[in-house]
Amino acid sequence: MKTDLKFKITTRQRQLFDLIKRYKMGLFLGTACMLLVAASSAVSALLIKPVMDDIFVKQDIEMLRLMPIVVVIVFFLRGLGDYGQEYYMNYVGQRIIKDLRDRLYERVMDLPLSFFQQERTGVLMSRITNDVNVIRSMVSTAVTSIVRHFFTILGLIVVVLYRDWKLALCALVILPIAFFPVVEFGRRVRRVSRRCQESMAELNSFLHETFAGSKIVKAFGMEDFEKKRFVKKTDDLFELEIKTVIAKSLSSPVMELLGGLGIAFVVWYGGYSVITGASTPGTFFSFMAAVLMLYDPVKKLSRLNNAVQEGLAASDRVFDILEKQSDIQEKQNPVELVVKPHRVRFEKVSFQYDRNPVLKDIDLDVQPGEILALVGMSGGGKTSLVNLIPRFYDVAEGAIRIDGVDIRDASLASLRRQIAVVTQEPILFNDTVASNIAYGNPLAEKQEIIEAAVAAYAYDFVTRFPKGFDTNIGELGGRLSGGEKQRICIARALLKNAPILILDEATSALDAESEMWVQKALENLMRGRTTFVIAHRLSTISYADRIVVLVNGRIVEQGRHEDLMALEGEYFKLHQMQFSKNAGVDCPK
Ligand SMILES: Nc1ncnc2c1ncn2[C@@H]1O[C@H](COP(=O)(O)OP(=O)(O)OP(=O)(O)O)[C@@H](O)[C@H]1O
Ligand SMILES: [Mg+2]
Repeated sequence: MKTDLKFKITTRQRQLFDLIKRYKMGLFLGTACMLLVAASSAVSALLIKPVMDDIFVKQDIEMLRLMPIVVVIVFFLRGLGDYGQEYYMNYVGQRIIKDLRDRLYERVMDLPLSFFQQERTGVLMSRITNDVNVIRSMVSTAVTSIVRHFFTILGLIVVVLYRDWKLALCALVILPIAFFPVVEFGRRVRRVSRRCQESMAELNSFLHETFAGSKIVKAFGMEDFEKKRFVKKTDDLFELEIKTVIAKSLSSPVMELLGGLGIAFVVWYGGYSVITGASTPGTFFSFMAAVLMLYDPVKKLSRLNNAVQEGLAASDRVFDILEKQSDIQEKQNPVELVVKPHRVRFEKVSFQYDRNPVLKDIDLDVQPGEILALVGMSGGGKTSLVNLIPRFYDVAEGAIRIDGVDIRDASLASLRRQIAVVTQEPILFNDTVASNIAYGNPLAEKQEIIEAAVAAYAYDFVTRFPKGFDTNIGELGGRLSGGEKQRICIARALLKNAPILILDEATSALDAESEMWVQKALENLMRGRTTFVIAHRLSTISYADRIVVLVNGRIVEQGRHEDLMALEGEYFKLHQMQFSKNAGVDCPK
């Protein structure tokens, strides 16, 4: 198990590395710019000697003219290098972010509906915004500095070895010892950082829920309650951030102490060599200077390890999603369904959500153009049944066939082209009314959009908007009523012109008048299509060709309204209950 985990992490690191490698040109240019900066620093140090010796001591006029120009050129190159380094490293970092975000979104959009019902929106959003950003900071800051410090350390080690290799070897023994706290603290940083990101995701999710649900928050007078809950969450986040800071900065004093030990050793042993005459003060100071200079980048590298650990924690969260497999898979060489009236058949279909059986032995044969109504108590499995048709979920047993083709053998795209859905919750996007109606049908002509709106009884109120069909839904804000939104959704389903229609309580939230309009719109929509309509109000389905009563996931009765009434069974009971509740107001014929 443990080795499994290890293997997984290393493949993830390799994937991350592959991602970075794709921008090797940018990284290469960035590194070249870094070397330019390093070289110009060295050259400016070198220049001190001719300035001192030739200008001040020898008073060479020729050099006096030349030197300022050389200085300007060196500093210009340094500036250029600085800019290039910043630009290329950030370019690579931002490209990687963009890539990861694109890949994440692509992956997430292809995941089945069940995934979205399990994960909270805010948490998902956090992965695409926050976690990805942590990875960027690892790439553009850490990778850059590692390269830079690595070169510096390498150069200085050469100097140290060159001056006194024996002493150098003794002093450098400290380096591997210093490695242990670096690794240990890095591990801790990674752990805390992962919790930090989770807490951040939690915060995001909380914001999303309370902003989206602000109406309920206000209606229930829960503002203070939510404020307190928010403070609790920021407290948690704050604590974790501080823990990260502690884990990060603890490595510093430990490194400091180890460095001090190394230097103390060099002073002791080096001083001893000088006193006994085995070495000269010049060699000793030069050695000492190099060791001191070496110490700084080593310390910085230990901090960088922390940044890398944070990045790896974030990449774990990102790859968790990228590696998620969809349980709704397409067959190889799937059948392409053509758009035409369809016969839909449920054959001994059973279905469950995580071992909780919801549908049992469903047998249904729905003819092309038939209007099938599904009724029954809440929780009976009506929504679950229609969700199986577009393969939002797969059946556990049995099969659903469209014109004889098992829907699992059809391509998902062609299957979903056959189906238009209107749900109880009208979902519109922040775009123009026209684009919302043409959603899923981007090639639709203006005329077709208008015709759909007319048939959906949406034309009149849309044309009253200031910009008509070009009005942005966002601009309208909450001004659209439930029924108006619903009618736009119906226009959208009409324009899709799909042969199978699913209406899941498309009218249940409406008042009598708007329901009448929406009902008329729906009648236009259902004409000639194989329709599954779910309704609680029995009055709205009396026109159905067949009514199916679902109780606890089983079909208990089916037939026309009159037949079912005569049966005096479940449907009759439901009807009686509504009849007495509505006291004749909404009584079906
Ligand atoms: N995503 C889900 N995960 C687990 N269980 C679920 C899920 N969706 C629904 N259920 C359960 O499945 C059962 C059937 O739910 P379903 O939504 O199909 O009922 P329904 O007949 O549409 O009810 P309603 O009339 O209230 O809409 C319920 O017990 C419900 O709790
Ligand atoms: Mg339902």
